Amino acid sequence: MKFWGSRFAKGTDALADKFSFSIAYDYKLALYDVMGSIAHVTMLGQCGIISQPEAKKIANGLSQIGTKIEKGTFKFDPKEEDIHSNIQAELKKLVGASADKLHTARSRNDLIVLDMKLYCLYELTLIVDKIAKVQKAIVQFAAKNIDVIIPAYTHLQSAQVVLLAHHMLAYVEMLERDKGRLFDALNRMDTMPLGSCALSGTTLPIKREMVAEQLGFPQATQNSIDSVSDRDFIIEALADLAILGMHFSRMAEDMIIWSTQEFNFVNIDWSLCTGSSIMPHKKNPDIMELVRGETATLYANLNKLLILTKALPLTYNRDLQLDKPALFESVEKVGDILGLFAILFDTLKVNKAEVAKRIINESFFTVDIMDYLIKKGVSYRDAHDVVGKMVKECLDHGKKIADLSKADLKKYSVKFEDDVKKLLNPESSVKNKKSFGSTNPDLVKKQINKWKKLLNV
Ligand code: ARG
Repeated sequence: MKFWGSRFAKGTDALADKFSFSIAYDYKLALYDVMGSIAHVTMLGQCGIISQPEAKKIANGLSQIGTKIEKGTFKFDPKEEDIHSNIQAELKKLVGASADKLHTARSRNDLIVLDMKLYCLYELTLIVDKIAKVQKAIVQFAAKNIDVIIPAYTHLQSAQVVLLAHHMLAYVEMLERDKGRLFDALNRMDTMPLGSCALSGTTLPIKREMVAEQLGFPQATQNSIDSVSDRDFIIEALADLAILGMHFSRMAEDMIIWSTQEFNFVNIDWSLCTGSSIMPHKKNPDIMELVRGETATLYANLNKLLILTKALPLTYNRDLQLDKPALFESVEKVGDILGLFAILFDTLKVNKAEVAKRIINESFFTVDIMDYLIKKGVSYRDAHDVVGKMVKECLDHGKKIADLSKADLKKYSVKFEDDVKKLLNPESSVKNKKSFGSTNPDLVKKQINKWKKLLNV
C-alpha cells in the first residue's frame, strides 16, 4: 500500500510507476532520511504527541535501519516509490504498527527538503575540504618551482614573462573564491524545514526548534510555504559547482596547451594520460580534456534546475523531484575532478630547459622599456610610440635591441642610455615589477608563505 493509497479507486499504471519512482536515485538520501526521522520522532515523544516508549521504539528501529544503511546491507525495494516509503516499509517490519506514527506532523514535501539540505551540508563541506587539498598541492608545486619563469599570454599570444609560481597562485585565488561561495551557500541553507508539513504547518503541538537543535541546525525555517517550495539552496550549490568547474576547465586547458609538443612546458603524469589505439607515439591528456568536457555537465545541471523552477507555482510540485539527479551528478563529478587535480599537481613535471628557451625573446620586455622611459618623464603615449617604432625596425631588419648602439638608441629617444639593455632579460623583468600583486619574486614568495600558513602546508 502506498502512503496515499486508501483514497485511490485503483492502482497506478505500471508505466506511471516506472516514470515517477525516484528510489533509483534518492536512495542516496537514506541516511539523512533516517537521521531526520529519529530527530522528528524523538520530538513527537517529548511533546507528548506520541508516548515516550513508542517514540523510543520507533527511534530504535530507525537506528537499526541506519546501521544497515551504513554497512551497505540495507536492501532498497524498487517497488517502493521513494526513499521515504522504503524506510517506512522496513520500519514497519521492525516495529510493527508503531511505524505508522512516524509520519505524524510532517509530509514528504518538507522531509525531502530536509534530506536534501542534510545531503548538501555534508557533501559541500567535503568539497570545500577537497578544494583546500588541491590548493595545497598547487602551493607546493609553486614553491618547488619558484625559480621558473614562463611566458604569459593574452589572446594566446606571447605577452610578458611571469613566475610560474605566480601563474599557479592565480589558481589558488580562484579556488579560494570557490570555497567562499560554498561557505555562503552552506550558511544560507542552514535552516530546518521539517514540520512545515504539506505547506501550512500543523495543528499538532510540535516543537520544530527541537528537531533543528538535534540535527545541528541553528534554526527552523520561518515560513512553511517557502520551506517546501525553496530549491534556491540547490541552485546556489549547482551555480557554485558550475563556477568551480569553469575554473578547472581553464586549468585543464592550460595543462592541455602546455603539454603539447609545440609548447612542451610540462609533462602530465602518465597516470592521467592515455594512448592512441592507432598512433603508438601518442600520450594524450584525456583526463584534462574530460574535465573540460564535464564542465558542460555542471553547466547543464545548473540550467536544468533554473528551468525546472522557472514560473513553478508555489508550493510543492512533483517537478521538483528532478532536482536530485542533477545535484548528485554535479557533486560526484566535482569530487572526482578535485581528486584528479590533487594528483595532477602532485605529479606535474616542468621542462625547465625547454621553458628557459622560450623566454629569451626581447618582445617580452617592451612594457619594461616603456616604464623605463616613463620613469624619465616621457608620457605613456610617447613611450608607446618610441618602443613600437624600435621593435618594428628591429623585427623588419632582423636586429636585436640588445645589439643597438647607444647612438642607435638615441635616435628613438634621447632618454635612452646603455643601461636600458639591462632590462632585456626575464630575471630583471620579473624582479623589476614592484606593484602589490605583481609577479615580483619577493612578493610571490610572500604570497606562497601566506598560503602555506592559511592552508597548513
Ligand atoms: N520524491 C519526491 C521528491 O523528490 C518526494 C516528495 C513527494 N511529495 C509528493 N507530494 N508527492 O520531490
